[in-house]
Amino acid sequence: MEAEQCNSNSEKPTRACKAHPLFSIATTFFFILATYTLLNVLPHRHNIDPSTAVATTNSITCDSSATTVKVYMYDLPLRFTYGIIAVRNAEHGDIITPENLTSLSYPGHQHMGEWFLFQDMNRSQSNRVGSPATRVNNPDEADLFYVPFFSSLSQLASTRSDAGYSAKEEEEALVEWLEKQEYWGRNGGRDHVFTAADPKALLHVMDKVKNSVLLVVGFGRLRGDQGSLVKDVVVPYPHRLSAFHGDLGVQNRLTLLFFMGARFRKEEGKIRDVLFQVLENEEDVIIKEGVQSTESRREASNGMHTSKFCLNPAGDTSTSCRLFDSIVSLCVPVIVSDTIDLPFEDTIDYRTMAIFVDSDAAVKPGYLISLLREIHPDRILQYQKQMLEVRNYFEYGMANGAVDEIWRQVSKKLALIKVMSNRDKRLIKDLGSSCMCTNQTTL
Ligand SMILES: *[C@@H]1O[C@H](CO)[C@@H](O)[C@H](O)[C@H]1NC(C)=O
Ligand SMILES: *[C@@H]1O[C@H](CO)[C@@H](O)[C@H](O)[C@H]1NC(C)=O
Ligand SMILES: *[C@@H]1O[C@H](CO)[C@@H](O)[C@H](O)[C@H]1NC(C)=O
Repeated sequence: MEAEQCNSNSEKPTRACKAHPLFSIATTFFFILATYTLLNVLPHRHNIDPSTAVATTNSITCDSSATTVKVYMYDLPLRFTYGIIAVRNAEHGDIITPENLTSLSYPGHQHMGEWFLFQDMNRSQSNRVGSPATRVNNPDEADLFYVPFFSSLSQLASTRSDAGYSAKEEEEALVEWLEKQEYWGRNGGRDHVFTAADPKALLHVMDKVKNSVLLVVGFGRLRGDQGSLVKDVVVPYPHRLSAFHGDLGVQNRLTLLFFMGARFRKEEGKIRDVLFQVLENEEDVIIKEGVQSTESRREASNGMHTSKFCLNPAGDTSTSCRLFDSIVSLCVPVIVSDTIDLPFEDTIDYRTMAIFVDSDAAVKPGYLISLLREIHPDRILQYQKQMLEVRNYFEYGMANGAVDEIWRQVSKKLALIKVMSNRDKRLIKDLGSSCMCTNQTTL
């Protein structure tokens, strides 16, 4: 397992390997150019062979095979992948035959990260150069096993469909299938990776898959012994609105604070109605109810591109894709969600680009608005520059974007997986795990 050596000894090597392939090509190109220039300028005493010179630059750039984690993607029965797309699309009246099943494209929704991960692994290895995860076809060579079940789409299909589709049945069938796989049992599933972005995804079988690395948007519905920052990875929502590519600064952002979305939500989200009440009469604030439609999305996108701050209150859960829409819109997020989980916090310090407001304070009349009015345009510019710097981490479709970062984060779990697997195997009695935190609030 070379991957472990590179990843666990220090943080730096993985970063160093992160150079975009284009960057390496460019570096090599300039090296060749420089070499030829030198050859022409210098008296021809030392005959420098440009091919050896290029070889030297290549050895400086990181050998990607030595530093990437080896991932085996299960070839799941189609009912767990494209079959779910078919169920979903059938609701819209599409005719689907076995022949065109695998040409179906995944329907857009806020938890579609699972599709991008699947597509990334499905590309040929020559198109995956630079990825922190190398796909292997032989499971014996794998460090990790990726189960590409579309758990969020399955959840969605079961809530909307009257076609008799049941997420519970699919999840149980998946576990039944996994239990027949040799590699599933070997380490109690600890070296397996699942996406579980929708808060209800995999919930019916959570106790069977809880040892595995779960890719979640937050830990809201998981018990402390099912999900944790130690074992799992918090992933971003794919943003649903278009990114802002205009000038930085506030000159074209006349609205102080923007929010569009549901006013009434359960649990922590009850705060939304109170925020509507304290904010809706402020003249430079736009706070309105939105519905799910293309027109609404256009309006929300326009609002986020022309506002200084974007309100991000808790909803049914503490997180939402709105945060990532705000970031790609360079609209400074104002987060009123006291228990929010955020992705990639080892790399990103969110306080440099977002404002966190205690929800008890935020509902006091006048408090939020005067806090925001006092923030100087130069400070807003700094927040925007920070967002610009990190927003590629939230782009699922791009090289060095969210998918690569997720695999980089997952690869950091390898050492822990090994500890846990070896420990499990030698323990004579399991008196509950001492090395895994079972109380989430103490994490
Ligand atoms: C699948 O194939 C059938 C029969 O050829 C066709 O009618 C249908 O439109 C196709 N569906 C999709 C989603 O391409
Ligand atoms: C990608 O998926 C398609 C459809 O399942 C399959 O035919 C193809 O072989 C896959 N490609 C790779 C590189 O895995
Ligand atoms: C978790 O820890 C906190 C703080 O120590 C404690 O108040 C809480 O009761 C614990 N919860 C459980 C379920 O043990």
